[in-house]
Amino acid sequence: MQVVTVRGSVTEALCDVLIVNLFEGVKRPGGATGAVDQALGGAISALIEREGFEGKLGETLDLTTGGAIGASRVIIVGLGKADAFDADAIRKASAVAARRARNLSARRVASIIHGAGIGGIDPALASRATTLGTLLGLYKFTRLKTDKPTREVEEFAIIEKDESKLAAIEAGMRIGKTVADAVSFARDLTNEPANVVTPGYLAETARTIAGEFGMECRVFEREEIAELGMGLLTAVARASAEPPKFIRLEYKSPNATRRIAVIGKGVTFDSGGLNLKPGDSMAAMKDDMGGAAAVLAAMRAVGELKPEVNVLALVPATENMIGGNATHVGDVIRALSGKTVEIDNTDAEGRLILSDAATYAESEGVDEIIDVATLTGACVVALGRGMAGVLGSDQGIVERLIKAGAKDGEKLWQLPLHTDYLDNLKSETADMKNAGSREGGAIIGALFIKNHIKGTPWAHIDVAGPVTLDRESALSTKGSTGFGTATLVNYLLGNS
Ligand code: BES
Ligand code: MN
Ligand code: ZN
Repeated sequence: MQVVTVRGSVTEALCDVLIVNLFEGVKRPGGATGAVDQALGGAISALIEREGFEGKLGETLDLTTGGAIGASRVIIVGLGKADAFDADAIRKASAVAARRARNLSARRVASIIHGAGIGGIDPALASRATTLGTLLGLYKFTRLKTDKPTREVEEFAIIEKDESKLAAIEAGMRIGKTVADAVSFARDLTNEPANVVTPGYLAETARTIAGEFGMECRVFEREEIAELGMGLLTAVARASAEPPKFIRLEYKSPNATRRIAVIGKGVTFDSGGLNLKPGDSMAAMKDDMGGAAAVLAAMRAVGELKPEVNVLALVPATENMIGGNATHVGDVIRALSGKTVEIDNTDAEGRLILSDAATYAESEGVDEIIDVATLTGACVVALGRGMAGVLGSDQGIVERLIKAGAKDGEKLWQLPLHTDYLDNLKSETADMKNAGSREGGAIIGALFIKNHIKGTPWAHIDVAGPVTLDRESALSTKGSTGFGTATLVNYLLGNS
């Protein structure tokens, strides 16, 4: 889909649908909406009155213009209360209006940017949020449907008459589009079923990104993973017929002074292993590579935006399956870190593969390690599907991650890395167990990973909740949300 910034007047914009807006409780539209109302002889005011339109956030109204202006139809979207207005409201209003336009079979959609000039939201941010909301609202996963929907928006234009704002709007639109494309890429990768997205598929995806953007990519095969000493990844992958891959994708900037490792959990299907998950809990476990999807998607945005930082992306990719050669409960495995781990639950596999990857990153001498993982059901219970948990050994990284997420509407909530809970991981036979108790599970999972990192500043984002939705939201279809992608992109851009 094309997105463009156009200098001109809203009444002249040639399009199928023009989107304008109204704050809650405003009876007489002003600004651009007022100008359109006037050109239509007061038709918008009359309709607002007749329909009892209140301007609540996401409420919409539409009318045909009969050719009185450049647009065939107009959609009025509610922005909610002016004093509660922010970038979240812009994204939501944009998404709802775009879906309404699609339902009206619009191919060419034009919009004013919501909220620029009001309440101190600067034009670049408003345009970024308008673009991101529009593109994410229109996202659909249809690759596997033979009967493709025919109604698709082909062009989205932001109309602005004030020349002095154009450059900022254009820049905001560009970053909004890059982030939306990356998030959509992560959604696609995660929405694909596990018989398509295998560890090998993730490796091919990384190779393609490397080729597209001139990055370095290396993929370690099962034997090489074992030879490296990654006992934990090897143990998780044992019973899988799909060969595991350890993926290393590196972006280098000539002006970089720092090197950051980003690690994504790439479990392409988590059956639980011999601690087999019950049916209901297994249903969404093709999404257990959502962290890997966010990392790979962020690398595409990094390739496009070229921040001045070196990024080492690592994806330990495997299935977690059952079979005659599966890792038993009670097996003791030597990690790449050299520590020994008693497997008390084969379903706590994410922390195993992430620990080997983190040790690998540390041996590479990176300055920081960030991992993104669908790690624990406990985090979903604690925080729900609206936000991720973030924990780390370095408060600076944690706070920068929270800010980076907030920029594009991803909410991260810090949980304490409470070291007393390490008691849970005490083992009779080995240095530690992998699962421990379910109480405080999100914290214990993070502590396990920390046990394998010697001193490199590290933070962990548990995205088990927000990565998947069981119903549609304003900004996402049911299924994968691509959560984590925008946070990583903004973090790496360092503009957070
Ligand atoms: N992939 C799951 C975590 C998960 C749960 C992701 C729900 C998305 C939604 C992870 O591998 C897992 O199974 N964790 C266990 C850990 C436990 C055995 C200590 C869990 O959370 O139950
Ligand atoms: Mn599991
Ligand atoms: Zn898992």
